Amino acid sequence: MTDTLAPNPGAAPGPGIEGSLAGWARTIAPSALREILPMLTRPGLLSFALGMPAAELLPGEAYVQATRRVLDGGALPLQYGVPHAALKRQIVEMMAERGVDCTEEQVFLTTGAQQGMSLLARLLLEQGGQVAVEAAVYDGIHAAVRPQSPQILTVPSDAEGIDVDALEAMLEAGARPAFVYVIPDGHNPLGVSMSLERRVRLAELARRWEVPLVEDDAYGFLRYDDAALPALRAIDPEWVLYVGSFSKIFAPGVRVGWIVAPQALVSILSILKHGSDLDVTTTAQRTLSAFLDAGALPEHLARVRAEYRARRDAMLAAMEHCFPKSVSWTVPQAGMFVWVTLPPGKDAVELLRRAVDEEQVAFVPGAAFCAHDPGQAARCMRLCFASMPVERIEEGIARLGRLLGGTIRIGAVPLV
Ligand SMILES: Cc1ncc(COP(=O)(O)O)c(C=O)c1O
Repeated sequence: MTDTLAPNPGAAPGPGIEGSLAGWARTIAPSALREILPMLTRPGLLSFALGMPAAELLPGEAYVQATRRVLDGGALPLQYGVPHAALKRQIVEMMAERGVDCTEEQVFLTTGAQQGMSLLARLLLEQGGQVAVEAAVYDGIHAAVRPQSPQILTVPSDAEGIDVDALEAMLEAGARPAFVYVIPDGHNPLGVSMSLERRVRLAELARRWEVPLVEDDAYGFLRYDDAALPALRAIDPEWVLYVGSFSKIFAPGVRVGWIVAPQALVSILSILKHGSDLDVTTTAQRTLSAFLDAGALPEHLARVRAEYRARRDAMLAAMEHCFPKSVSWTVPQAGMFVWVTLPPGKDAVELLRRAVDEEQVAFVPGAAFCAHDPGQAARCMRLCFASMPVERIEEGIARLGRLLGGTIRIGAVPLV
């Protein structure tokens, strides 16, 4: 499917300063997620909505200690600085766990994965160019490409990830995306991880058609089953530009992420980044580096993985128990999300309204992840299993099940 990002039909150039905005900014429409945000953040809700790490697992004390170690040596970390070489070296070591062999010179530090995506979009995408994304995808990619007013090509996905046959057909039909954006592990929102065969085929396609892949690995270190599959960049270091993040494995508040790219691109990225901020917060880089230097990440990650695994299992078991048989869902091997599909004819936005009003439970409706006509995603919902403890997950799923099962059993009050 092909389309440009939906302009806001009501947004004519206004008088005054608004009339001076660049074309893309004048036609910008608020994202679907932002529109339902007030509903999702009502106090007192059992919320499966936002993809937040569990607050009680954030390494607050370790951060305080690491900050102290950094500032004990003097106030220089509060000065302007160059990207912290030690942190880059540590990231090179971490990348080995994803099967990626890279050098410090290929690591570019960013203010979170989101900035990484935005910089890569500016690097690769011409104004009005094409970009290929999955039909249901993390909405941050749309935000990242929006200033280039791109033509969005949407590719379907299934339980093994992006549909490579559909992508190939699109390329054969003449599509020339500036890049394909993929989330191979712990997909947000679909909760799937790409099979090895898919990864290899996708990398082959990228090479054959000379289309870069932007690999968003925000959840790649958060996997729950033993067999880790290699990052795409491990399969093709030339055509895959890797985006990583400390947000989900350490804390989103430090705002540190990274790109692994060919060295020649790193210097251009650095010029681009200087246009909007001069550096990733210098103290955050050093504090994170001190935390890694103390060897604290493996233990922290093991704890987070074990807890999220237990929460995932609790959610899956509760859904099995409480949801009608007509409801299906993905079984995530990584990440934070389960994607639930309701029976045909149901509308997840309507279900959300009832869930919030009648059961004080929130989730994100599938349509919020689609740039265009949501199609089947209109009857899907994304549930985050990471942010609440097991008892609250069980309670929340039981309430949702009551809503779903009750309606389906009685058949009198339609869900939508
Ligand atoms: C798939 C995906 N990519 C990127 C991001 C942004 O991550 P960061 O906090 O590192 O900017 C998120 C945040 O939820 C995400 O889900």
